[in-house]
Amino acid sequence: MKMIQILVLLLISVELCISTNPGVKVRLTKNGLEYANRIAHAEIVKQLQSLSIPDQSGEDGDIKYTLSNIRVKGVTPPGSSISLVPGKSGVSWALSNFGISISADWRVKYEKGIIHISTSGSVDASVSGINVVETASFGIDKTGHPSIASSGCSDNIGNVDVDFHGGISFIINLFRSTVEGKIKDLLQPKICDEVVQLINNDAEKSLATMELAVEVAKRFLLDYRLVAPPAITADYMEIWDKGEIFWEAAVKEAPFSPQPLPSWTDNSRMVYIWVTNYSPNTFLYQAHTNGYLKYNVTKKDLPDDSADYLNTTCKFKCIGTIIPQIGTKYPNSSVELHLHSTAVPSAVMTNKTLTVELDASVGMWARTPNKTAAYLATLDVNVSLTLQPSIKNEKLNGVITDHSFKLSVVKSAVGELHPTVLNLVIDGILTIAVIPELNEIAAKGVQLPIVGGVQFNNTFLLLQEGYLLIGTDLQYKVNKSLRFEAENCRVIHV
Ligand SMILES: *[C@@H]1O[C@H](CO)[C@@H](O)[C@H](O)[C@H]1NC(C)=O
Ligand SMILES: *[C@@H]1O[C@H](CO)[C@@H](O)[C@H](O)[C@H]1NC(C)=O
Ligand SMILES: *[C@@H]1O[C@H](CO)[C@@H](O)[C@H](O)[C@H]1NC(C)=O
Ligand SMILES: *[C@@H]1O[C@H](CO)[C@@H](O)[C@H](O)[C@H]1NC(C)=O
Ligand SMILES: *[C@@H]1O[C@H](CO)[C@@H](O)[C@H](O)[C@H]1NC(C)=O
Ligand SMILES: *[C@@H]1O[C@H](CO)[C@@H](O)[C@H](O)[C@H]1NC(C)=O
Ligand SMILES: *[C@@H]1O[C@H](CO)[C@@H](O)[C@H](O)[C@H]1NC(C)=O
Ligand SMILES: *[C@@H]1O[C@H](CO)[C@@H](O)[C@H](O)[C@H]1NC(C)=O
Repeated sequence: MKMIQILVLLLISVELCISTNPGVKVRLTKNGLEYANRIAHAEIVKQLQSLSIPDQSGEDGDIKYTLSNIRVKGVTPPGSSISLVPGKSGVSWALSNFGISISADWRVKYEKGIIHISTSGSVDASVSGINVVETASFGIDKTGHPSIASSGCSDNIGNVDVDFHGGISFIINLFRSTVEGKIKDLLQPKICDEVVQLINNDAEKSLATMELAVEVAKRFLLDYRLVAPPAITADYMEIWDKGEIFWEAAVKEAPFSPQPLPSWTDNSRMVYIWVTNYSPNTFLYQAHTNGYLKYNVTKKDLPDDSADYLNTTCKFKCIGTIIPQIGTKYPNSSVELHLHSTAVPSAVMTNKTLTVELDASVGMWARTPNKTAAYLATLDVNVSLTLQPSIKNEKLNGVITDHSFKLSVVKSAVGELHPTVLNLVIDGILTIAVIPELNEIAAKGVQLPIVGGVQFNNTFLLLQEGYLLIGTDLQYKVNKSLRFEAENCRVIHV
């Protein structure tokens, strides 16, 4: 191979390594898997208790038979266990010692030439000691959905017992052990056939159609598609999600990638979720480049008790008295502030704080009594917002707990403006208008990539350099079925 080819291959693989870092990572530990198994087992037992079996019919040569009115008389629920199989990139599920007994009506017809024989009766049957071990392997499909396929199934049946009554039962019962053997032979491959079908069709279909885009702040999509096949080790299963936030109206990649995550060895919780600063940074990137970070603060955006803060004429405290030259030049008016971001803001995560750094331009205008807008000044304001992230209702949300800023006057049409006075005004506007508005958005929260129908318990949230980590136990909401929350989901077209 030529040097140049080697180099290209090397570059491609380096590129692939970079692009496969997850923005969001989910780890389901053994504890989590065992919990899922307990839930699944309880669900199986519940379903078995109300099991109904449809009529069965078939042909064997000239013989037609039907089994109808099948009643389940007793069920021995299976024991179940689940384990991780790193070698097959999968999990293995074992059901043991399952048993069922039924009674039914049977009818047999024999038709050949002029011979027509029809006979019927009832039957009691039981099958016991059924064991099944199914291994399913995970992968990823072209659209970034997880895929699943059976990679091994084995089963055996302990005992089959049948007892016919009525009709020609006395004859059939003579061949009882032959019939029992035949049923066992018929049933045994069928069990794995069914299980494999369930995995390869039903489970695969539900994974392939799972919604992996979550709406954020109405205009954005959070992309939870996989960037790599699920990774399985002896201790956990990991899902690597893209974790990128897109502008819904024009989906386009951000020009930066997630950083690799350091290793984490504590697997005592059921689930761990890493959210890297890539997610908020792609949000901020899209928000800025698509002109979303624009906000006009006018009188009607202020709460009632501070609505007059923007007056240019008042008795005590308002912009007109804080900055007298505005009050003098434009009396009986109200000031408007037109804010817009001037650079891509950044989210900075350290092991202590999560801050958002935002550079903004603030245009100051006076809305005069005749409704025209008169230009006052332009300020350059760099704001730093400290966010306290938290988990509420299984969503990640936040609240702004602190802010600081630096400002300078770019231009003024009302003479010299004193920085100390402007600081007071901008601080007032941030505190009474901008921050409450941002907190309202942050309080709505962002959905995490977990199936619906579970609640968090024993949850911690840890801030680290470049990411935050959520560790939690799960608790099943009994009245909901396990599924990925479909509310607020959209399809991403890239
Ligand atoms: C803010 O006000 C200006 C002037 O009235 C207007 O042109 C602009 O579209 C407004 N911006 C927003 C985000 O409402
Ligand atoms: C602020 O201006 C409005 C009219 O624009 C007026 O009704 C209100 O009384 C003023 N507030 C104060 C404190 O002067
Ligand atoms: C401002 O409004 C007050 C009360 O409506 C009025 O008496 C005063 O003349 C107005 N001032 C100007 C400069 O329009
Ligand atoms: C936070 O990081 C600094 C250095 O980046 C380190 O000295 C400090 O021990 C860390 N604190 C915690 C609680 O991890
Ligand atoms: C509106 O009021 C402003 C300031 O009070 C004044 O400069 C401007 O000429 C007025 N415009 C009209 C159309 O009356
Ligand atoms: C805000 O930040 C930008 C770039 O980071 C810088 O050029 C500007 O001087 C800063 N403005 C203030 C008021 O600190
Ligand atoms: C939630 O966690 C607590 C503390 O570990 C535990 O005592 C409790 O049983 C858990 N609740 C459920 C429903 O699992
Ligand atoms: C499920 O349970 C929750 C409380 O845990 C309740 O608010 C909700 O209405 C229930 N939903 C249904 C469909 O029963």
